[in-house]
Amino acid sequence: MIIAIDGPAAAGKGTLARRLAAHLDFAYLDSGLLYRAVAARALGEGVSLDDDQALEALAEALRPADLERPDLRAPAVSEAASRVAALTPVRQALVDFQRSFADSPPGGKGGAVLDGRDIGTVICPYAICKLYITATREVRAKRRWLELRERDPAAIYDRVFNDLVVRDERDETRKDAPLKPAADAVIIDTSALTADAVFAQALAIVEAARPG
Ligand code: CDP
Repeated sequence: MIIAIDGPAAAGKGTLARRLAAHLDFAYLDSGLLYRAVAARALGEGVSLDDDQALEALAEALRPADLERPDLRAPAVSEAASRVAALTPVRQALVDFQRSFADSPPGGKGGAVLDGRDIGTVICPYAICKLYITATREVRAKRRWLELRERDPAAIYDRVFNDLVVRDERDETRKDAPLKPAADAVIIDTSALTADAVFAQALAIVEAARPG
């Protein structure tokens, strides 16, 4: 069973996906980490964010250790990730890994939860359960600011808000796999919901979609 969870930045996808995966004993893939890892390597190795070929090569050569880098959540990496994610060769290079994770979840698990921007629309359009998690820009920026502030007390809310708006706009308007809900996705607006309430709603939807 595949659960696809998509939505804009800081909507609460990761928190929900991790909780669902733990509850159901499914494997979990945060697909954003793949784009973040390509971006972090490009920044670290001085690869231009306009060099499609070099970025495609980085995406093809990703290793598990790249997904463990401590800098993947840094704002500069978030921004660069949304730029490299707009490039078709980079996206193509990452499709097979995501699909095989979904189709044959590691650890012999009975299902997989994947979160990202295009899981329900492009990577696993055949997923049995699709959720689109969203919230107002203000709520999402505040959540991301609080998260960043734990690591960097100097994080500035206005900057976080502006970065998020730029990134959303890029994710929504790119030609390849733009961020949008799949036609058959259930949309949950988490603006006024606690993480527990989102989990309860999502679990009810998953249970209803579960075969047998
Ligand atoms: O945690 P947050 O929602 O801020 O970002 P993320 O899910 O880690 O994704 C980082 C960036 O990767 C996004 O801004 C997207 O541009 C890109 N991404 C994508 O294009 N497709 C995905 N399936 C996942 C992420």
